[in-house]
Amino acid sequence: LSIAIDDPNLSVRGPDGRERFSSPADLASATPDQFSFCYGDDALPRILDSRAGMVICPKELEEKAASLPLDKTLVFVPDPRLVFARILRGLFSNVPPKITLGKNTRIHESVILGTDGYGFVVEDDGRRVRFPCVGGVRIEDNVEIDAGSVVDRGTLGDTVIGYNTKVGKLVMIGHNSQIGRSCVIATHANISGSTTIGDDVWIAPGVVTSGHVNIREGALIGTGAVVVGDIRPGWIAYGIPAKEIRQRTNEGRL
Ligand SMILES: CC(C)(COP(=O)(O)OP(=O)(O)OC[C@H]1O[C@@H](n2cnc3c(N)ncnc32)[C@H](O)[C@@H]1OP(=O)(O)O)[C@@H](O)C(=O)NCCC(=O)NCCS
Repeated sequence: LSIAIDDPNLSVRGPDGRERFSSPADLASATPDQFSFCYGDDALPRILDSRAGMVICPKELEEKAASLPLDKTLVFVPDPRLVFARILRGLFSNVPPKITLGKNTRIHESVILGTDGYGFVVEDDGRRVRFPCVGGVRIEDNVEIDAGSVVDRGTLGDTVIGYNTKVGKLVMIGHNSQIGRSCVIATHANISGSTTIGDDVWIAPGVVTSGHVNIREGALIGTGAVVVGDIRPGWIAYGIPAKEIRQRTNEGRL
């Protein structure tokens, strides 16, 4: 990967700007030979914590980043997500998804593992273009996925279905979702991208989660609920939007 630095919107700060990077990775797991990107309010501490060799950063961070140690190359651009997506599309678009299946897994008819995530960037000319995915799917031991369900690959890392979890029919599990151990995800659930589900969670039929929510361990989400925010451990939540109603007990536990 090399970067053309003739764009007035782009500036680079780093050890000598001539490093080589092998592959993309998310900021948290990247190693010094990998590159990543960031945006959002917490970008600065995440850059500091990251071991990535190069990070594509928002331009408005340039001044603040002047005091950061020069242990990595920082590339400042107006829209880091768009630039990162372009690099992935140009250099990594044909990476097949790596599907890892644990022992004693049962994958039923018409299940599709490793489809591209449903994420987009908007190009300068207004075209909506897929954010490319290079990650995979990891299904742990003892997992069962019933007929017709679909599991997207991760964008950079893996979408994960944890040990002993049972997924019903026609369930959609979006890219980067992390599903814990011994969960039930019942028929027609729509788990949108980057949903985190803790261990021993029950998701009843037809539940929809907005992306980036965290349903903590032991929670139960009632039939048809729409989860738009985090749910605390052990709570029963339902409704649109889902509200925490009461704590789950062992009595009559599903
Ligand atoms: C969430 C759940 C556990 C709630 O059960 P519950 O606490 O016994 O609730 P109740 O039946 O006593 O109902 C209490 C109230 O909440 C309402 N309610 C119950 N579940 C609801 C839901 N999912 N969405 C909206 N309202 C719901 C009831 O209509 C009732 O309202 P009311 O007081 O105005 O009459 C249950 O609805 C559920 O979804 N169970 C999971 C079922 C499942 O997974 N089935 C598939 C098995 S594979």
